[in-house]
Amino acid sequence: MADCQCDDAGGLTLSPRELYDRLTEQGDQVRTLKTAKADKADIDAAIQSLLKFKLDYKRITGQDYKAGCPPSEDAVAHDNGPSEDGADTVDPWNVSTTNAKGVDYDKLIVRFGSSKIDKELVDRLEEVAGQKAHRFLRRGIFFSHRDMNLVLDAYEKNKSFYLYTGRGPSSGAMHVGHLIPFIFTKWLQDVFDIPLVIQLTDDEKYLWKDLTLEECHHYAMENAKDIIACGFDVNKTFIFSDLDYMGSSPEFYRNVVKIQKHVTFNQVKGIFGFTESDCIGKISFPAIQAAPSFSSSFPHIFQGRKDVPCLIPCAIDQDPYFRMTRDVAPRIGYTKPALLHSTFFPALQGAQTKMSASDPNSSIFLTDTPKQIKNKVNKHAFSGGKDTLEEHRKHGGNPDVDVSFMYLTFFLEDDEQLEKIRQDYTSGALLTGELKKLLIDTLQPIITEHQLKRKEVTDDMVKQFMTPRPLNF
Ligand code: TRP
Repeated sequence: MADCQCDDAGGLTLSPRELYDRLTEQGDQVRTLKTAKADKADIDAAIQSLLKFKLDYKRITGQDYKAGCPPSEDAVAHDNGPSEDGADTVDPWNVSTTNAKGVDYDKLIVRFGSSKIDKELVDRLEEVAGQKAHRFLRRGIFFSHRDMNLVLDAYEKNKSFYLYTGRGPSSGAMHVGHLIPFIFTKWLQDVFDIPLVIQLTDDEKYLWKDLTLEECHHYAMENAKDIIACGFDVNKTFIFSDLDYMGSSPEFYRNVVKIQKHVTFNQVKGIFGFTESDCIGKISFPAIQAAPSFSSSFPHIFQGRKDVPCLIPCAIDQDPYFRMTRDVAPRIGYTKPALLHSTFFPALQGAQTKMSASDPNSSIFLTDTPKQIKNKVNKHAFSGGKDTLEEHRKHGGNPDVDVSFMYLTFFLEDDEQLEKIRQDYTSGALLTGELKKLLIDTLQPIITEHQLKRKEVTDDMVKQFMTPRPLNF
């Protein structure tokens, strides 16, 4: 407990218990101001500090603040490498920042030691791929990488590579944010014409969440349908549930054991913040997420070849797993996987955190109706617009903190139209309600189409994708 401390806004070092008490006080303060019908600016400021304390609390204890429930004894920080005090929190379990524009991704590149996807790399990708870069690359949504140049070097010499991505099936309800890596991976598969493996970590969710094995496995099968609906080519794609595949593949399990032998408890403690009181399943799980990075884990696809390079598109919060993977690879005679990292898909309430499937109002779900989408965007999407029409026309809105604008950067294909929207919103010519309508009109058909495609996915198709078999490439 003694080392679970942080710097709060005032530069004071607080323990989880002290932070908990501060939070409780701050909550009371907000209620008092509201009851007293205080100035809106004062109430907003008090709410802002409350939010910041809550984020700090989650970062330090790994738990959500609950009034009346002080932090438990085993509350612990996830120390994710050399993060300075006050830095954004980014690890596989938590993403938060106090900045309304979202996480500072340039700083993250420095902290994680990855490389920026710069214009030069995007140009090179376009050249090798022979087509215009995906909008996620053009707009910096995939913003960071490791060794992408090596993959392209090899590809230019007619050496193939394969793609690996995954999903932790913690519920049957997927939201639009979950689609980002899959939309991009599908583009990479089409462009490079290469095999793809998709890991569904039902074992991981069983270890981390209060769910039964059967529930996790069921969610894996349900999520597989949403993934298949993204349009992957069944002849080039293998989707697997860890609970099913691990036990059926001696080669996969041998790689898991090799990795386990070459990573110490101290190392995973440093990378993931595990403690002595975490179950041993969690402590050894990173080896299972690492194993698909090596082609020998899939003999039916690569015929035992150990040297097919792997490229992993993922959100940046998964990087700790692959820092570990890249560290062990040379020690067990394998090639390090390359990576492409994406930013997070912001919650409707603002870019301080990512969308969460457990908060229905923070997310647009793949099952939402057009009406629900409209209501959620209108009611909950954080606006960078001004309070009154007059002020908005005069000073304009701020697209950098506006969630509707951010979502358009993910989903609106036309670069010129997007730029015009940015300019009009900034100048005040475009109002918040009009911006929201543009987003609603963009999202509704995308979600409806996804639902239609998902309906067409039969159990038989799921079985086909999930059967270990040779792939064509
Ligand atoms: N751990 C990831 C999650 O909880 C799932 C995952 C497994 C993954 N392997 C991956 C994600 C590879 C990206 C790339 O969502």
